[in-house]
Amino acid sequence: MVLSRTILGLIIVSVVGFAAQPGSAANDATSARAELGKRLFYDERLSGDVNFACATCHQPDKAFTDGKALSAAYTGAAHFRNTPTLANVGRRAAWMHDGRLGTNLNDVVRGMITETYLMNMDMRLMQERLKQDPVYVKMFRAAGLGEPSNGGARNALAVFLGTIVSRGAPVDTGALSAAARRGHALFQGRAGCAACHSGARFTDDKPHNTGVPDNPEIWADPRRHSAFVTYAKFMGIENYMGLREDPGAYVRTHRPETRRSFLTPTLRELKWTAPYMHNGVFRSLEEVVDFYDAGGGDDPLKDPRLKPLELTAEEKADLLAFLDAVSGETFDADAFVWRADDYDYAPVPNWRKAPN
Ligand code: HEC
Ligand code: HEC
Repeated sequence: MVLSRTILGLIIVSVVGFAAQPGSAANDATSARAELGKRLFYDERLSGDVNFACATCHQPDKAFTDGKALSAAYTGAAHFRNTPTLANVGRRAAWMHDGRLGTNLNDVVRGMITETYLMNMDMRLMQERLKQDPVYVKMFRAAGLGEPSNGGARNALAVFLGTIVSRGAPVDTGALSAAARRGHALFQGRAGCAACHSGARFTDDKPHNTGVPDNPEIWADPRRHSAFVTYAKFMGIENYMGLREDPGAYVRTHRPETRRSFLTPTLRELKWTAPYMHNGVFRSLEEVVDFYDAGGGDDPLKDPRLKPLELTAEEKADLLAFLDAVSGETFDADAFVWRADDYDYAPVPNWRKAPN
C-alpha cells in the first residue's frame, strides 16, 4: 500500500514538473524508508558471497553506472549488458534494456538480488543477515516495517530508488548556451531525436530498433556467454545455445519484428554514463552522434525514421552541446550515499541461546 502510494506520488510530481519530491512531515515514514534503502544499497551483504553491493555496479559518481561497456557480474560470471543509469528510474514505465519488467521497482529489485549472475542471493539468507545487524533492527522499526524482512528490504530499496531524481541540469534551469539552444532545436526538428527521446526524461520508454551493432565480447568471453545463455534460456528463447545476437525486446513479445529493439534510454546525466547503448559499443557521445548522422546502424528491422542526416560539423557540435546540457549535478552527495562505515557490529553474546 505504502509503496503504491509512493509511486503514485512520483507520478503526480512528474506530471507537475521535473522536481524532487517535496519533503514534508507526512513523508517521515517515507524518508525513514529511503534512509534504510540507502544503507541497503551500499551493503555488500546483500549478495551471496558478500562481494557485491548494488553500488558496486551502480556508482553514485557515475550517475549510478559503472563506466564499463559491459557490466560486472557475480563472482565467476560477467554480464552481457551495460549498467543503466538509475537517474529518475522510479518514473520509467518499464525496466531493463529489453523492457522485460513492466510491473514495478520492487520486482526489479528482487531480480537484481536473486539473479544468479547478479547478486545470487537467497532471500532467506538475506533476512537472517539483516536480522543480525542491530542498526537494521532499529532502522526497519523506524521505517514502520517491523522486524527486518525481505519484503521490507525490497520496499525500502524501491523507495530509495525513487529519490534518485535529476537536479540542476541547464535544460531545467534555463542556463542554456546559444549552441545548446540551436542543438535543442535540431533535436526536436530536423534531426528527429524527439520522436523517441520525448518528455522530461527524454524517453518514450518504448523499444525501437536503431541498428546498434552487437558487442562480440559477449560471445568471445565464456563468462559473459554463460550469463547470456542463462538469461536467454530463462526467457524461453529458441536455440539459446546457438544464438549470437542480443534478442532485445523479443524476449518479452516473442514477435519477430521486435528482434534487436531496445528501450529508449533516458538522455539525462549522459555526461556521467559513458560508454553508451545496451552493450556499451560507443565510447563517447561524438560516436553516438556520428552513428545517428549515418542514419543509425545496418539492420533490416531498423526504425524507418532513422535516415542519414548530413549534419555539418557545427550542427554536430550544437547537438553535443544540447546533450551536455541535459546532465545535472553529480549524485555523489549525502542524499544519495551512505557515508557511515557502520556495517560491522559486535556479535550477540551467547547467540545460540538468544531468542530469534
Ligand atoms: C553486478 C552488477 C549489478 C548489481 C550488483 C546490481 N545491478 Fe542493477 N543492473 C545491472 C545491469 C547490467 C542492469 C541492466 C540489465 C538488463 O538490461 O538486462 C541493471 C538494471 C537495474 C535497474 C533497471 C534500470 C532501468 O532503467 O531499466 C534497476 C532499478 C537496478 N538495476 C537497481 C539495482 C539495485 C537496487 C541493486 C541492488 C539490490 C542492483 N541494481 C544491483 C547491474 C547490476
Ligand atoms: C527511433 C527512435 C530513436 C530516435 C529517432 C533516436 N533515438 Fe537515440 N536511442 C534510441 C534507442 C532505442 C536507444 C538505445 C539503443 C540500444 O541500447 O541499443 C538510443 C540511444 C541513444 C543514446 C545513448 C544513451 C545511453 O545512455 O546509452 C543517445 C546519446 C541517443 N540515443 C541520442 C539520440 C540523438 C541525439 C538522436 C537524434 C539524432 C536520437 N537519439 C534519435 C531511440 C532513438
